[in-house]
Order: sequence, then structure tokens, then C-alpha cells
Amino acid sequence: MAPVTSLSASVQQHLATALSAALPEAGSADPLLRRSDRADFQANGILALAKKAKANPRELAAQVVSQVVTGELIQDIEVSGPGFLNVTLADRAITENLAARYADTDRLGVPFAENPGTTVVDYAQPNVAKEMHVGHLRSAVIGDAVVHLLEFTGETVVRRHHIGDWGTQFGMLIQYLDEHPHELDHKSSEDGEVSGEEAMSNLGRLYKAARGLFDSDEEFKTRARRRVVDLQAGDAHTLAVWQRFVDESKIYFFSVFEKLDMEVRDPDIVGESGYNDMLAETCRLLEESGVAVRSEGALCVFFDDVKGPDGNPVPLIVQKSDGGYGYAATDLSAIRDRVFGLKANTLVYVVDARQSLHFKMVFETARRAGWLGDDVRAHQLAFGTVLGKDGKPFKTREGETVRLVDLLDEAVDRASAVVREKAQDLSEEEIAERGAQVGIGAVKYADLSTSANRDYKFDLDQMVSLNGDTSVYLQYAYARIRSILRKAGDVRPSAHPELPLHEAERALGLHADAFAETVAEAAAEYAPHKLTAYLYQLASLFTSFYDKCPVIKPAPPQDVAENRLFLCDVTARTLQQGMTLLGIRTPERL
Ligand code: ARG
Repeated sequence: MAPVTSLSASVQQHLATALSAALPEAGSADPLLRRSDRADFQANGILALAKKAKANPRELAAQVVSQVVTGELIQDIEVSGPGFLNVTLADRAITENLAARYADTDRLGVPFAENPGTTVVDYAQPNVAKEMHVGHLRSAVIGDAVVHLLEFTGETVVRRHHIGDWGTQFGMLIQYLDEHPHELDHKSSEDGEVSGEEAMSNLGRLYKAARGLFDSDEEFKTRARRRVVDLQAGDAHTLAVWQRFVDESKIYFFSVFEKLDMEVRDPDIVGESGYNDMLAETCRLLEESGVAVRSEGALCVFFDDVKGPDGNPVPLIVQKSDGGYGYAATDLSAIRDRVFGLKANTLVYVVDARQSLHFKMVFETARRAGWLGDDVRAHQLAFGTVLGKDGKPFKTREGETVRLVDLLDEAVDRASAVVREKAQDLSEEEIAERGAQVGIGAVKYADLSTSANRDYKFDLDQMVSLNGDTSVYLQYAYARIRSILRKAGDVRPSAHPELPLHEAERALGLHADAFAETVAEAAAEYAPHKLTAYLYQLASLFTSFYDKCPVIKPAPPQDVAENRLFLCDVTARTLQQGMTLLGIRTPERL
């Protein structure tokens, strides 16, 4: 099915043509079209163009108006204020365009991007043997939405979960497990399966015990350090023990991702250890090209604008003076793999803003080395901190970081209470299922609906509120529309372009028409919050449409009822598609 041009794009095109006829030297200038309260659209671009051409803006606007052919698309166009253009569309055009778009049931008329490429998205990267916390929530939720958005535009997306599965801390863990071989054993469960909860609690206990010994027992410390050397040398037994930590951790990670209702595939988990074989080569390439230099034994990259408090430059350390490789060497090797192995054009890193300096230095190093350039871009999609109600970084009352699972469980509990209270004909089982969909949706939506780089307050009361900019509000709007459509017999309603539209119908229809543009913009800017804002507005416009324009009772004439059902269907399908892109479920009944 050929993509349907949105109404605003068609109007834009009309105005641009009229503009270049009225003012040839303006070339293909942008008339700057916006949705407006006064008319359907307002164009504000004439003012600046008139100024540049030293013309009277109202006169230029009038000349543009005289060039516009009114009729099928544009019903009315007039000059307003100092030289704005107010544009009103023909009702028929609005309905027809929507009908054409929604005939494409798979994509709702959203076109594929013109030049799709390959993007690697680095997200959902927890650390082995460690509990997941709210920071990992953000990376997972934002990353998942960005992956869906990009895939929907036709981009080839490679997912990479760069888990923390390497480093000196494994020395003490491996040594401890060797000395206490049953610490990770599972309590026999009936089906022989271990729960993520049990796996993590074993790992957590072992981590604490190992750390305690490491800090208090010099001899254990020595043995643990030797283990790091063995690990890096690839000693088979040491590697086998290390692998157990990774496997147990994955059981836990997968259980959390499942709770988050998020698909994470095993082959996409390529952690820090996945680049071990490349580290020496990465250092050699950087040193030979002069991008990195030896300084006090370490291999370093220096930057003019990165200095410590004492004014001395702070380098990116690619290899430590003892020969060890760290976080930077791994990330630089991962870039080589993603650019030259996976043939990516774009690398997106969904990582906490507190790591921005690291990525700035890593990207700049890769650029100097020629691994990144005009044809391959890297971008950190940096996210802010999750705050508690007190506005400080989210902690438990005891001042510890909050376990992600506890937080998700609480959200589901709260949401289940809301669902139960409103439930009319739902079974206990349905309440539990919807409670999870609403609770997890609430957490995801709250995270996605502020622009990623900002901090936000984790406030469950607000998140599961039925009024306001929440996923629950959108889910209820969706379920309500589905119930209306069921009552009307659940057939795909047909549009009636010949009917005049009520104010509230036009507003809803025009907004629905902007779905494709919103998706394209949210994908191009890695900005899921633009989609949440759009969907919230859609649900709000639906609410006022439904208030003002009866669909079923009192029964309007049949064609009017059908056209309104058509608008209901358009809204429901847009809500569902939009929420799916965000990773949020839309239950049919609530
Ligand atoms: N594991 C890291 C953390 O928990 C995040 C990894 C981010 N990705 C990367 N390529 N460095 O903070």
C-alpha cells in the first residue's frame, strides 16, 4: 500500500508552491505550518521571509493567499495578524485522508524511512552478580521503545546488551566459590527450575561474603588477585567458574525482563567479556596511530578540554600500567566490532548521563582513530536520575539503592487495586493479568513521558492515577473505545467523507492524521516522549469528542453514527499501535 501523505504535509506543499509563485527569490522556503486553535493550521513563515525581502508581510501574505487554489483540500485561507496565514481544511479531505490511511491496517499509513540504515542500540545492560536497580530500569525501558520505533521505520536494528561481566571483582567471586563450592546451588524445586529471585539471592549473599573476606583477609585477597590473572590468561577451570556467575545472573536478568514484559534475546547479550579478544589489537592500533600515548606506563588518550580540578589533563586510560584493560578498552573494541563487523551506520548508547564524560572521550578517541566519522555516528542517549518523592536520588529508607523487582512488584500491587476497584465483570485471574499490564505500563510510561535527559520523580500514586498523563488513562481510553465498538457489533466501521464534521471531530481527526509524522520524529530524535505526548493528546481529544458527539445514545442518524464509530476505531488503533511501540499493553477490557 502506498504511503498516504498527511494533511499537514499536503497543505505545506500547497503553501510552498504558492509562496514561490508570490516571491520567486524565496525558493523553497518553509511556510512554517503549525496546528492552530483559530483555524486548522497557521503558517508563520511569511513574516521572516517578508523581512528578508524587505516586503510588507501582510501584503506578501495576501499575495500568497491569491496564489492558493482552494477547493478539495483547502477550504479557506486568510491573512491574520501581522502576516500569518490561517488555513481551514475541507471536512471531506480530513475524513478521506484518514480513511485512506487506516485502510492500511498493519502500519496505519506510516511510511518507511527513505534511507534506512543499521543502528546498534546498546541498552538494558545490568551487571553480573549484582542486583538491578532503577538506573537499569531506565536504560531497558527507553532502549526498548527506541528499538521498536526504529524498527517500525524500517531501520535494521542490532540490539546489544553490554552487560558488566568482566573485571577484577570476579577474582574474589571465583575464588570464594571455589572455596565454598555449594554457594550457588539451587534448593531443589519441584520442576527443577530455579527462580530469578533465588538465583539473585544466592549471588547477592556470595558477593557480600566474598567482599567481606576480601576486605578483611590478606591471604584471601592474594588468592583472589591471582584468580584475576588466571581469568585473564584464560585458565579453563577459572573460566568455567566465571561462566557459572554469568549463567546464574542471566536467570535473574531474564526473570526481571519478563516481569518488565520485555523481550531480551540471549544472542543479543554481548557483555564486556565478548570483546576480550580485541583488546590488545585495539590498544596496538591506537598506539601505532599516535591517538594514544604511554604516560607513566599507562596507555592514554588526552583531550584539550578534559581537565581535573587541579587543571591537569585527565586522560582516557585504555590500558593500565599493570597491563590490565578497563571499561574504555572494552567500549572502544565494541565500537570496532559494531562498525566493521556489524556494519552499523549509527551507534546509540542508552546510558546514564553520569557516564557522559566517558562516552565523550570514547567517541572522540574513535573519531581520531578513524572508526567513527561522517558515515558512522555515535550518540549517547543519556538519561537522568530517578528521584524519590523528596527530590533526591531514589533510595530505600535505610539509604540503600532500591531493588528494581521490589519496585515493579509494588507498582503491580497498586495497579491491581485500581483495576479491582473499577472492574465490573473481570475474574480474579483477569484482574491479576490486567494488574500486571497496568502496573508495568505505568512504570514504563512514567519513564518515557519525560524527555530522557531529565530527572524524574518515582511517584506510584501519580503513575497509577486515572486522571492525567498516565498509561492507565490511555489504557482505559482504549478499553472504553473497544467496548463501544463491541457494542456496535465489532465490524470495521466505514467512513462517510460527505458528512460535515463537528469541531470536536475535526480536532480528533486532524490529530490522528499526525501519527505518522510523530512516529517519524520520535524515531529520528530517539524521543519516545514525543509519542507519549501525542497519545495523551489523542486520548484527551477523544474524551471531548465523545462528550460532544453522541455515538450510540442518543442515536444519531445512521451515517453520522457510522462515521463516529470510524473515528473511534481510528483512535483505538492509533492508541494501540502507539502503545505497542512504547512496549505497553492495551487490554481489550479493563
Ligand atoms: N553495565 C553498565 C552499568 O551498569 C552500563 C553499560 C553501558 N554500555 C556501555 N557500552 N558502556 O552502568
